[in-house]
Amino acid sequence: MSESFTGEDVAVPSATLPHRGPRVLAIANQKGGVGKTTTAINLGTALAATGEEVLVVDLDPQGNASTGLGIDHKSRDVSTYDVLSAEAALRDIVRPTAVPHLWIAPSTLDLAGVELEIGQRRDRAHRLRDAVTALNGDPGEPPFTYVLIDCPPSLNLLTINAMAAAHAIVVPLQCEFFALEGLSQLLKTVDQVKATLNPGLEIHGIVLTMYDARNNLSGQVVADVRAFLGDKVYETVIPRNVRVSEAPSYGKPVLVYDLRCAGSEAYLRLATEVIQREKAFAERPAG
Ligand SMILES: Nc1ncnc2c1ncn2[C@@H]1O[C@H](COP(=O)(O)OP(=O)(O)OP(=O)(O)O)[C@@H](O)[C@H]1O
Ligand SMILES: [Mg+2]
Repeated sequence: MSESFTGEDVAVPSATLPHRGPRVLAIANQKGGVGKTTTAINLGTALAATGEEVLVVDLDPQGNASTGLGIDHKSRDVSTYDVLSAEAALRDIVRPTAVPHLWIAPSTLDLAGVELEIGQRRDRAHRLRDAVTALNGDPGEPPFTYVLIDCPPSLNLLTINAMAAAHAIVVPLQCEFFALEGLSQLLKTVDQVKATLNPGLEIHGIVLTMYDARNNLSGQVVADVRAFLGDKVYETVIPRNVRVSEAPSYGKPVLVYDLRCAGSEAYLRLATEVIQREKAFAERPAG
């Protein structure tokens, strides 16, 4: 595949995923602790519950998505590190979870070193895209229809790989005073990736997380973010809910841990919105 990579930089023309490939959504925000992993796990679970075949790709060396989906550290023989090092195919590291139709490509701490290892390679920003492109190649395997990439809290090469591989980005924003801080930098990075690596990239939506109805500030943040970002913000707001924070320690999505809690209901509504937006994207006239 390396022939298609030209020039000094990592820009690659006409980089398109195959028609029948999965929809690839990167869950990204360089701010830490805003709900990226929680969203990857629970949006993934909710999409799987509607019959989609969903792969969560853990692209964070912290490995929280892997742990939250019940994969313990010791059993992670192969991981997204091997995929980005081009030593394993994405299909080969995929593990089933306790949730039907939901799969995980786990990560390990090794991933933290991958930037140093591949940082000088011309295809360094496209390692994940190439891996995702090859994902559905085997007719013997059921094809994935969604790939959700859980990004690390940084705008590093890992996140750039996710943005280069994705059709669209889902941005979790925590309902707190500094919610919008750093967002302009994130949007600038998205624009740079569009200009160089992935012209089709778009923002799928902004999801407000950890909303606390008892706190006036939460309501103000929701109003401000909606005023600033308009209909890019999903209607669904994820409430702060103790069941959501308990679930990962049981290695379960909150939808499995407690289907009836407010957090689970919110993630189900979010999945419905994501599917509606997907339909709207698909029906858009070309060009
Ligand atoms: N809706 C919620 N209600 C209560 N707790 C939540 C909720 N969403 C996330 N949390 C908790 O907040 C913490 C941060 O969430 P999460 O790990 O999803 O964020 P993150 O953006 O992935 O963090 P990092 O940047 O470190 O990867 C976790 O302990 C998680 O359980
Ligand atoms: Mg995380």
